[in-house]
Amino acid sequence: MSYIVFENVNKYFGTNHVLQDINLEVEKGQLVTLLGPSGCGKSTLLRCLAGLELVSSGKVYLDGKDITDDSARNRGIGMVFQQYSLFPNLSVFQNVAYGLKQKKMPKAQIEKKVKQILALVGLEEKINQYPSQLSGGQQQRVALARAIVTEPKVLLLDEPLSAIDALLRRNLQIEIRRIQKELNITTIFVTHDQDEAMVLSDMIHLFNEGFIEQSGTVTELYARPRTKFAATFIGNYTILPAADFSRACGETLTCQDVAIRPEIVRLSYTPNLDQDRFHLQGVITNSIFHGNIIRYNILCGDISINADVVYESGMPYINGETVFLAIKKEEIIEL
Ligand SMILES: Nc1ncnc2c1ncn2[C@@H]1O[C@H](COP(=O)(O)OP(=O)(O)OP(=O)(O)O)[C@@H](O)[C@H]1O
Ligand SMILES: [Mg+2]
Repeated sequence: MSYIVFENVNKYFGTNHVLQDINLEVEKGQLVTLLGPSGCGKSTLLRCLAGLELVSSGKVYLDGKDITDDSARNRGIGMVFQQYSLFPNLSVFQNVAYGLKQKKMPKAQIEKKVKQILALVGLEEKINQYPSQLSGGQQQRVALARAIVTEPKVLLLDEPLSAIDALLRRNLQIEIRRIQKELNITTIFVTHDQDEAMVLSDMIHLFNEGFIEQSGTVTELYARPRTKFAATFIGNYTILPAADFSRACGETLTCQDVAIRPEIVRLSYTPNLDQDRFHLQGVITNSIFHGNIIRYNILCGDISINADVVYESGMPYINGETVFLAIKKEEIIEL
């Protein structure tokens, strides 16, 4: 049995069926993310694991034990909430020590432990400051320290970085991953940011309105979305009716839709004749400079396709130019 198991979990708020027959397993020591749009049930699932909500039906297991009806305090789970909530009138030390005091740990041991954890999150120097004297990112790290200091069996992080600017956010993502691996804490991380999910996860579970649309490793989800929703949510897929694409490339595809990642589209001024590629011709209609790549939009008859070209020097294609597109057949996603 996996370390955490949700078995046929349903949750209703009144008539709102918020979790629909969820089956999900997490292995010990893994970091998995729940990724999905606002309101799809991510926080509710975490709260059901933490014991802050009770499931309407189904079972929740932790470490081989049925915890479905256990109270929150008996579950041994640490949580950092969407809005981090430090005690404003307690210092950083007191905030982090809080859970250890409640466990009646001896004073000297508390002091040692708090200092260790603060070193881990890089905040030793702030030990006597108050939350109002810290930046958002520092407060977030205190919240994280407070959650891990009690050595919970499981760490639940509900969008812990949502209030933080892009650069610090990236650093904290890397830091969370490092700490999680160092302490080998089984962690569930909730986010609606696909980049964040990809940086952090062993496994991603993509949520859509109360059910799991697709689960997989980062590369599986990125390169092999199984549904239109998955292809819309992850990567920068161009999604087209297969009939339109067939017309543009002169070959017949029998699926409903095709999804094409911009990085698999090769552009050139001369046609490429490889048998293992679809070939199209089009006119450059737009280009956006993203730093490392240029994203071109190419109009091929009545369909529009994006292509990413690694930026070397200069702008190789300009609007209005005619180009040839070659797309590896095995890379196209048929939906
Ligand atoms: N305590 C509650 N009472 C009634 N309805 C609730 C309650 N908590 C959540 N819901 C409803 O359950 C659904 C899922 O909410 P949830 O907070 O799990 O979404 P989420 O995926 O975490 O969204 P977000 O990304 O915005 O945080 C929503 O429709 C919400 O209105
Ligand atoms: Mg939420």
